[in-house]
Amino acid sequence: MDLQLAGKAAVVTGGSKGVGLAVVRTLLDEGMRVVAASRTVTPELAATAAIPVTVDLGTATGAAELVERARAALGGIDVLVNNVGIGDRAPHVDGAVLDLAALPDTAWEQTFALTFYAPLRVTRAALPSLVERGGVVVNVSSSGARVVTAGPVPYNVAKAALNALTKVVAEQYGARGVRAVTVAPGPVATAVWTDPDGFIGQLAKVQGLEYSQFAAQAQEALGAATGRISTPEEVARLVAVAASPSNVTGAEFAIDGGIVKHV
Ligand SMILES: NC(=O)c1ccc[n+]([C@@H]2O[C@H](COP(=O)([O-])OP(=O)(O)OC[C@H]3O[C@@H](n4cnc5c(N)ncnc54)[C@H](OP(=O)(O)O)[C@@H]3O)[C@@H](O)[C@H]2O)c1
Repeated sequence: MDLQLAGKAAVVTGGSKGVGLAVVRTLLDEGMRVVAASRTVTPELAATAAIPVTVDLGTATGAAELVERARAALGGIDVLVNNVGIGDRAPHVDGAVLDLAALPDTAWEQTFALTFYAPLRVTRAALPSLVERGGVVVNVSSSGARVVTAGPVPYNVAKAALNALTKVVAEQYGARGVRAVTVAPGPVATAVWTDPDGFIGQLAKVQGLEYSQFAAQAQEALGAATGRISTPEEVARLVAVAASPSNVTGAEFAIDGGIVKHV
């Protein structure tokens, strides 16, 4: 199937590894020109044909800087993939083990900075170009937005806000030719799960548990009907489909192996 993305220009945030890197590779395979934003350029990203832009999207000014550099490099933006969302592990570990009374503002602020404010600010900066091009915003959310009490609560609440942002962009900009779609993965085999020093590994450590056993138990507890977690490449294909021209807007595409049970 031709996704009709060839020749178009994309910006992918958090494109240096994990899901973002898989999205970068998939969109390049579709014939797109791609700017990939992250704080560092990994060898894997450098090996692609993407244009890397190093920027800290956890800051108030990073988003505008990224969009300015992306527009200079690409001429305009047809597809914005707001993939950045997991930053440093510490606030997520606190958010998973401390209750509301114990969790300080800083944990909420650090989480919201990258999970909600970064997509909001990048979207806002990219909107003039997206309107010009009839573009699309794909927000990479999480099944956590629908199972808010399982896992790091500030992260899940910020992802719920991101889902709402998708709806707002779809509603306010639909008549101007811009679409917005949420892609909501359950657990994905990135460093978050597979690196013993990643979020799950750190969560095991603070509870005095052994990493691989804890990771297996945590996956089982999430209750995926398929019995497995997703690959970054599977999520990337869904992002490409969401970005492909269609009449889909304001919608949420879940890829969670059946973790979210409610209708
Ligand atoms: N993995 C999962 O199980 C899972 C499940 C549901 C949803 N998701 C969502 O999928 C998305 C990607 O997750 P992932 O697992 O692929 O994460 P990851 O492997 O940790 O990759 C995160 C990416 O974001 C970049 N990044 C982090 N902080 C940044 C900052 N301040 N400024 C700019 N870039 C920054 C990282 O590059 P640098 O470190 O070089 O900056 C990297 O490219 C996130 O939105 C996440 O919430 C993941």
